[in-house]
Amino acid sequence: MRVSVIGCGYLGAVHAASMAELGHEVVGIDVDAAKIARLAVGEAPFFEPGLPELLRSAVASGRLTFSTDMADVAGASVHFVAVGTPQLRGSFSADLSYVDAAVEGLLEHVSAGDLIVGKSTVPVGTAERLAARIADSGTGAFLAWNPEFLREGFAVKDTISPDRLVYGVPVDAEAAATAEAMLSEVYAQALAAETPLIVTDYATAELVKVSANAFLATKISFINAMAEIAEVTGADVTQLADAIGLDVRIGRRFLGAGVGFGGGCLPKDIRAFTARAEEIGRGESVAFLKEVDAINLRRRQRVVDLAVDALDREPHGKKVAVLGLAFKPFSDDIRDSPAIDVAVRLRGLGADVVAIDPEAIENSRRMHPQLEFDDDLEAVLSGADLVVLVTEWNEYRHMDPVWAGELVGTRKVIDGRNCLDPKAWRAAGWTYQGLGRP
Ligand SMILES: NC(=O)c1ccc[n+]([C@@H]2O[C@H](COP(=O)([O-])OP(=O)(O)OC[C@H]3O[C@@H](n4cnc5c(N)ncnc54)[C@H](O)[C@@H]3O)[C@@H](O)[C@H]2O)c1
Repeated sequence: MRVSVIGCGYLGAVHAASMAELGHEVVGIDVDAAKIARLAVGEAPFFEPGLPELLRSAVASGRLTFSTDMADVAGASVHFVAVGTPQLRGSFSADLSYVDAAVEGLLEHVSAGDLIVGKSTVPVGTAERLAARIADSGTGAFLAWNPEFLREGFAVKDTISPDRLVYGVPVDAEAAATAEAMLSEVYAQALAAETPLIVTDYATAELVKVSANAFLATKISFINAMAEIAEVTGADVTQLADAIGLDVRIGRRFLGAGVGFGGGCLPKDIRAFTARAEEIGRGESVAFLKEVDAINLRRRQRVVDLAVDALDREPHGKKVAVLGLAFKPFSDDIRDSPAIDVAVRLRGLGADVVAIDPEAIENSRRMHPQLEFDDDLEAVLSGADLVVLVTEWNEYRHMDPVWAGELVGTRKVIDGRNCLDPKAWRAAGWTYQGLGRP
């Protein structure tokens, strides 16, 4: 099929390359000329495992092109909208201006029978509003909503072999059948591999995505709330998580207590959900998400408090080695990253923060020039008064405590992800402090 992808960020670039890998002819459109210039020569503008290889081969095959000119969508019959929906300044709501602009832009170039497919995460009701706008345009195009569940770090695999497909289709039976058929042609390979498909109305498709993220955020904040309780009772939240996680109804995944969640999705999605629920008169239904958010943010402060205590309440001028900047490993994404938050707060208290990350230093330096960065772990640890691990990259979780102990000034470590082995670190002479564990 010939498809276009509007918005070539973490979602859209992977989607465009993956669709080309599946044999479709794809044009990716973005307003960011620098991003498009790199993509057009097969270079990934951000770190995502597997993406560079995919881009190189798809661009070389001629099946994948990129442009800043919306007119280049002409000829495609399925148009994916993958632009950002960030948190609106001064509000919890999602900023839909990029989605609206993308749809308006598309309407100038689509043909009758073209399917516009929303992939961005949007508040419930957005698709219905956009469908009305598209119907009014007289273009003869129509709309489906196909939420995206990819995980950064596994985005290529998740796009080519998703764990489920959800199509939100129009109420009109004929339009619904056509939308389903067109999307199923796009996803023919995944469907042949028996990927579960759920076809819904617009509202359900929008809510599937938002509620999935709300559930995941709640699960993380639940275990972090237990960590807060463990901290005053002497219990160990990691053992608690192991024990309750053995109940198959609960499960161990997403029960890692630590500095909490961040990134370009979970925080803004739960906030946008509460804002939307209030707009539709159902604020109380998801009021608990405000507590989920608050628990999550408290964990960042908890790491900072532990650090200040470890520095004998005098952070000023002390060297703190911050391990990790990305919001999670296998990504260079620092949007709302707990690691960055901790580093910035410690710097604000006067500590000499030196931070390292295998992939996210460049993004961090651009956004937070007040921090000091070094890509050499030995140099970062050298003479440090305190080590704070905040993103669980393998190179940090598997670090040898004896080796690290010989480099630092003082053997004190705060394990903001509960990913180090306390026994091994203590045996090597370290004062080890996890979250929610004695
Ligand atoms: N990143 C993820 O893991 C992920 C997963 C699932 C869903 N989502 C959702 O996907 C959407 C995009 O997220 P992202 O992480 O890729 O964001 P992003 O900021 O990385 O990418 C958005 C891109 O859209 C471009 N853009 C903005 N306005 C445009 C316009 N009018 N025309 C063309 N391009 C335009 C921007 O320049 C940018 O490159 C969001 O709604 C997000 O919630 C993201």
